[in-house]
Amino acid sequence: MTIREETPVVIIGAGVAGLTLATFLHTVGVGCIVLERRNRGTVETRQRAGVVDARNVRMFERWGLADKLLAGPVAETIEYRTNGVSRVFEIIGDNASEGRFCTQQMLVNKLLGVLIDEMGGDVRFEVSDVVIRNDEGIRPQVGYTHASRMHEVACNYIAGCDADRGVSRASIPDGVLTTLTHEFGYAWLAALVEAPVKGHPIMGVSEHGFVAQLPRGPQRSRYYLQCALADGPADWPDARIWDEIRLRMGDPLIENAVVHDKEFVPLRSVVHSPMQHGRLFLAGDAAHLVPPTGAKGMNLALFDVDVLAQALVSAVRDRDVAKLAEYSDTVLPRLWRYQEFSAWMTDTMHDAGDPTLSGPFRQMVARARLDEVFSSSTAGRLHSDYQRGVA
Ligand code: FAD
Ligand code: PHB
Repeated sequence: MTIREETPVVIIGAGVAGLTLATFLHTVGVGCIVLERRNRGTVETRQRAGVVDARNVRMFERWGLADKLLAGPVAETIEYRTNGVSRVFEIIGDNASEGRFCTQQMLVNKLLGVLIDEMGGDVRFEVSDVVIRNDEGIRPQVGYTHASRMHEVACNYIAGCDADRGVSRASIPDGVLTTLTHEFGYAWLAALVEAPVKGHPIMGVSEHGFVAQLPRGPQRSRYYLQCALADGPADWPDARIWDEIRLRMGDPLIENAVVHDKEFVPLRSVVHSPMQHGRLFLAGDAAHLVPPTGAKGMNLALFDVDVLAQALVSAVRDRDVAKLAEYSDTVLPRLWRYQEFSAWMTDTMHDAGDPTLSGPFRQMVARARLDEVFSSSTAGRLHSDYQRGVA
């Protein structure tokens, strides 16, 4: 027997996009059900992005949630290190709240606490076989299985927050979406280590390949090491990771520490458009991917759900669907600017390093581009605006 229910909004995926959207909707009294295929423990422990930019700190303030959800130090500086020579870039702010080194994991944990434990939000973990019915002229429905029982939820709108491999985008008929992709041709090894960032967060250009060290809480950091697309754990034993970190950072005094987790991330950019079909709206990684170099993946997901939440509130509460109709057109121009920033960061950081990657001419051009953010106040201001998410 199928269990039938209804709710104004069904959200598929309890990642940072789905949980933030559900929390915003709850805050203003719009009902929703979140469907998540993993268990709560898995959602709570996934290590990913590390920065909530200034734009999104203000967004959480506007929704009255910043104090409950955000933690971590203010993101004010980045050390750009070229072959061991360091230059500290000071992000130019505007006296309002600034970005925070608040990890995605910290934010997701706090969202789960506020949404489920404080607000009594309805998040259903370990669901499977999610099926979307979004045909023109009928009320949308989302079917799923939980503990061997079939469920069917009728709703007014569906938010597809289930990332790149979810069911939401896959449910849209062929030919509706246009997909534009760029592959950078290399990957990053992301290693979570038991050693804090001691000075500034570091983005390191090196003849031996890119390296970065970014904070992940008071005791840990995440190192990123440029590697080949085909590389896997067998190519990177812990000893090699530390040898490469010392070499690429130009610092022989860095000591080995415990490596908790190694992940291989191919660097690519993807945009699917439009970000909506009928009453289904895509947000976050379901609609777009950026290489992690600019720290914008989570921040773009947060921008999407800010716009989508306001549009859903107008549609559900005031029966005004104008903002929903414009959702894609509102989000996509800004998304492309941040695709450009993420590609700029990726090309600059990698091309300026190993000259065998793009050749010695591109190496010098990339170094000149990086120099410019220090030598030109105009370039420095624009770089700050992108870092802060206000460009
Ligand atoms: P997610 O956080 O992936 O959430 C999607 C949710 O949907 C998941 O909980 C998933 O289990 C659920 N789901 C999927 N399919 C279904 C289904 N069929 N039914 C129900 N639920 C489903 N960005 C950085 O800036 N720095 C980084 O270091 C970084 N590292 C990353 C590492 C990895 C492996 C990945 C995938 C991304 C990383 N990113 C990083 C990007 C950033 O984390 C993402 O942009 C961000 O997570 C997007 O949020 P989201 O909510 O759209 O997707
Ligand atoms: C991260 O924390 O993963 C991060 C921070 C800043 C960047 C890139 C990545 O520029």
